[in-house]
Amino acid sequence: MADFKLADRLATLPPYLFAGIDKVKAEVAARGVDIISLGIGDPDLPTPDFIIEAMKKAVERPANHQYPSYVGMLEFRQEVANWYGRRFGVSLDPKTEVIGLIGSKEGIAHFPLAFVNPGDLVLVCTPNYPVYHIATGFVGGEVQFIPLVEENDYLPDLDAIPAATWDRAKMIFVNYPNNPTAATAPRAFYEKLIGICRKHNVIIAHDTAYTEVYYDENDKPMSILEVEGAKDVTIEFHSLSKTYNMTGWRVGMAVGNASLVAGLGKVKENVDSGIFQAVQEASIVALRDGDDFCRELRAIYRKRRDVVVAALNKVGIACRVPTAAFYIWAKVPAGYGSSAEFVTAVLEKTGVVLTPGNGFGTPGEGYFRISLTVDTHRLEEAVSRIANL
Ligand code: MLT
Repeated sequence: MADFKLADRLATLPPYLFAGIDKVKAEVAARGVDIISLGIGDPDLPTPDFIIEAMKKAVERPANHQYPSYVGMLEFRQEVANWYGRRFGVSLDPKTEVIGLIGSKEGIAHFPLAFVNPGDLVLVCTPNYPVYHIATGFVGGEVQFIPLVEENDYLPDLDAIPAATWDRAKMIFVNYPNNPTAATAPRAFYEKLIGICRKHNVIIAHDTAYTEVYYDENDKPMSILEVEGAKDVTIEFHSLSKTYNMTGWRVGMAVGNASLVAGLGKVKENVDSGIFQAVQEASIVALRDGDDFCRELRAIYRKRRDVVVAALNKVGIACRVPTAAFYIWAKVPAGYGSSAEFVTAVLEKTGVVLTPGNGFGTPGEGYFRISLTVDTHRLEEAVSRIANL
């Protein structure tokens, strides 16, 4: 059997963070260890019944079995616009400012293909969801990481970026509520970022997959598009995955500047054939009728957050109390040389899967991430196993 050599763009790429973790997890599980997986942010609770019922009906309609529209059904895009209007007070033209995605990861991964030429500079705030820099690298873009540090509330220090860098930059990836740190961004930050990007003609690619996981009505995360002028330079990626426990369904949307949405659409019509129309019909129901469900889901995550924060504090592990996103970003306890050393020891000795902070980039070194996607009982059990390491 011939052994084909990978293309250069893949040959030096390490395994995708969560694929690598899955591999080690499977090895430990094969030894009979009871695994508690707090690694990937994949909601444990099922998609609610009202969405499943809509899907069952939609799947029976023969018209839904054919190729869907490339950009998404107009009814789906209209419902996205309705939801943005209701949730954020943002007005969107469903025909030109909304596109359906096969999950926001797909849209984010394809977006640089539309706007980044080889050698173009792309700023990536880090620690970060790996897809931002990997997708940039795939198209030959030059990545410059912008560090997010605790002392600055995990916001990039925009003033520290020289004007010459802004002049050269084609695009900046930002993500709030942030994965992995769970930090949120205030309006003033967005205003400043938009001002700079308009001045220097830089595209803002904002990932907002976690806006609906928040813990207090006073801390509702915002869309960057709420800020005046944002639409001049911004595309915002969103997803139904975390909002309605629909990670497996692969459905999301990108909204904002019409030329950015159209550019992404041009890539997509050449590489995929749209979202299964039955999924779009069920998604319309989710977006239209899902507000009560989201409220109930937030109450569950709030309980989980409080359990974990209290348990970590009790055993002397420092962590941020998040106001949004279902992640706890915590400091590696003393005595471990690195994030990787700590999470490996935890997995090997206790069966608890954590994500090493440095897996999201260098500034994540010294931290680890807990995903609140198991029930409170298992979360308590996990922290107690870690405490008795
Ligand atoms: C994560 O755990 O960081 C995310 O769930 C990964 C993803 O959304 O693809």
